[in-house]
Amino acid sequence: MKALVLSGGKGTRLRPLTHTSAKQLVPIANKSILFYCLESISEAGIKDVGIIVGDTHQEIKDAVKDGSVWGLQITYIKQDAPLGIAHAVKIAQDFIQDDDFVVFLGDNLIRGGIKGFVNEFSARKSNCQILLAQVAHPQEYGVAYLQEGRVLKLEEKPKNPKTDLALVGVYMFDSHIFEAVGAIKPSRRNELEITDAIQYLLDAGYQVNSHIIDGWWKDTGKLEDLLEANRLMLDSFTGSIQGEVDSDSQIEGRVVIQKGAKIINSRIRGPVIIGENTQIINSYIGPFTSINYNVKIENSEIEHSVILEESAIMDIPAKIADTLIGKNVQITRSNHKPRAYRFMLGDNSQVWL
Ligand code: G1P
Repeated sequence: MKALVLSGGKGTRLRPLTHTSAKQLVPIANKSILFYCLESISEAGIKDVGIIVGDTHQEIKDAVKDGSVWGLQITYIKQDAPLGIAHAVKIAQDFIQDDDFVVFLGDNLIRGGIKGFVNEFSARKSNCQILLAQVAHPQEYGVAYLQEGRVLKLEEKPKNPKTDLALVGVYMFDSHIFEAVGAIKPSRRNELEITDAIQYLLDAGYQVNSHIIDGWWKDTGKLEDLLEANRLMLDSFTGSIQGEVDSDSQIEGRVVIQKGAKIINSRIRGPVIIGENTQIINSYIGPFTSINYNVKIENSEIEHSVILEESAIMDIPAKIADTLIGKNVQITRSNHKPRAYRFMLGDNSQVWL
């Protein structure tokens, strides 16, 4: 069994972060989404992993390297344009050869990993296994219609879906999928859709099994989903304090304070993670917040947010919530006259005041 991890794509829905960063490397609870994916592949006993990379290939390679940290052997496969998941499968045929394989979208997070599903697929020896999850907005996903547990039909982002079962971004195949990806035509968004390729398998009489997952799953392509994934991930943490907390500070609930971090005259109400060498001074950090390394927060209040490395938030008079802040961002109060909001924001930034 091999794995194919998709780590290309433009991440348009997470701009401006994705102008400079691959969406799969955005951290959830201070760890890149892609690393959770590689961990769960390793846990499932798979060693041989192909990673499909696009424009952000260098950044992905710098982060993952040869994969030995997870006991994996990585082969990078370049996709020249984001032409769809089925296209990625097509260009990976030389790497996969005749093996069974799991396709894992590098921006998907799945609670409890994939080991159980991979074992189930190997035991049942079907041609394909899909994972399904109930969602509130099925029109944003590929969807599946089932009858008595059997997959009848799949559809990619239908306008008026009559099912709430979405296709999770983890798929298991045997080599018949190469026949399917060779036969289908590009969709309206000019991509070779994996949903269409699986529909081809169904139409050709191949066996497609489905499994409705009961743990949580998140496609982290949008801000709300990313914050929600951060909330769910932090909720499964237990606290541990490796940094310093002074006697004027209060730590409540499950809080992770990583090495070299300093909490000074502040209140931290978990679940929260504070990254290495970050300083929290005269501040309140509320539930479901991840603050990465080398950040400085002073005289401010933050909750339900994700703050990336090397940023600083100082002297902000109102609470910051439901926020995603990129790397090396400065938010400070200015004493300049006339008093005014001043911004220097990158393309596609969004500000809510
Ligand atoms: C892709 C698939 C879709 C699936 C989703 C899961 O959507 O096309 O069928 O439900 O991943 O994350 P995309 O992220 O390309 O919009």
